[in-house]
Amino acid sequence: MTRSERTAPWLAIERLDAGYGRKAVVERLSLTLARGSIGCLLGPSGCGKTTVLRAVAGFEPVLAGEIRLDGEPVARPGLQVAPEHRRVGMVFQDHALFPHLSVAANVAFGLHGLRSRAGAAERVAQMLATVGLAALAQRHPHELSGGQQQRVALARALAPAPRLLLLDEPFSSLDADLRERLGGELRALLKAQGTTALLVTHDQHEAFAIADEIGILHAGRLQQWGSAGQLYHRPANRFVAGFVGEGSLLPGEMLDSQTARLELGLARGTRPARCAEDGLALAAGAAVDLLVRPQDVAVSDDSPVQARLLARAFRGAETLYTLQLASGASVLALVPSQHEHAVGSAVGLRLQPRDLVAYRRSAAVSAPALALAA
Ligand SMILES: Nc1ncnc2c1ncn2[C@@H]1O[C@H](COP(=O)(O)OP(=O)(O)OP(=O)(O)O)[C@@H](O)[C@H]1O
Ligand SMILES: [Mg+2]
Repeated sequence: MTRSERTAPWLAIERLDAGYGRKAVVERLSLTLARGSIGCLLGPSGCGKTTVLRAVAGFEPVLAGEIRLDGEPVARPGLQVAPEHRRVGMVFQDHALFPHLSVAANVAFGLHGLRSRAGAAERVAQMLATVGLAALAQRHPHELSGGQQQRVALARALAPAPRLLLLDEPFSSLDADLRERLGGELRALLKAQGTTALLVTHDQHEAFAIADEIGILHAGRLQQWGSAGQLYHRPANRFVAGFVGEGSLLPGEMLDSQTARLELGLARGTRPARCAEDGLALAAGAAVDLLVRPQDVAVSDDSPVQARLLARAFRGAETLYTLQLASGASVLALVPSQHEHAVGSAVGLRLQPRDLVAYRRSAAVSAPALALAA
């Protein structure tokens, strides 16, 4: 094995156009996954997530670009390796279990022709034990909870030891608490098995709980690819800033190409501000919108900057305040929940942005600030 083969990505998607008929709904998508890593495409409904998975699984031909698995091209215009020859497992959005088959028979289904009868039975037992369903092997899908059905679908997809596991909104039918717990369990399971996986979801908490790297997909275009921290602290554009986490965009001005000052007089950046949107340095005086996260705003009753409390939402240790500044702009603040300002009252504020991420203010996006509350 050469060095370049050892370091080649396990999954490589290169300038992929995918869609239905001749119409591309996903365009110029490129991403790579190292062996054993878990990637996630995160985006709103209809942005093309399932379309990408169908192209990788081999259910649809690709319109342009290339998909390689372990260095082997499996799809490009004129080439479509059949799904059964890609050795890719898929967990569908609705689990797609066979209702007339038992749990064990569902899991055995993907092993057909791959193992002897005894070998298959052993593998089924092993997979059911892995997902914690050994005791339910003889039940039928309608006798299981949604979370248990999801585990059967996962065991079925993992049983043939696929080269790549694709997961389409695996927990969308479950309630929020269970989703987060199962997300953590799924991550542990995939890591223990060394499975390389590509997940798609519209739920950022699910993405953060499971994935190593996340791509934000919007209208068929990949907006940014990175870790959860990079997406949150260094969002590449306004869409990512609004989609990941909560925050507000406040109008400001570039003092020089390094620091930003907010027009509101709330803060003056001392660290370099980044114009994330187009990578261009902004000249002194340029109008920008600065991303302010709720953690960046502190309540300080003696501050000269006063805002009106529009709404409060209890979050446990903290309360999320929605505040209106004198300019009319609104800003979110996450404050310790012992603060008990009444809705409608005046609150003093200090702004301490940790990451100065600025976006060029275009004529189309007029000040005052655009609230980005998710
Ligand atoms: N079989 C199809 N034929 C034609 N267009 C389709 C087909 N399936 C999906 N589309 C269109 O492709 C676009 C992307 O759909 P896709 O199913 O990939 O979105 P998604 O991100 O998975 O959405 P969701 O979160 O709702 O599952 C949508 O505009 C959709 O209407
Ligand atoms: Mg979908």
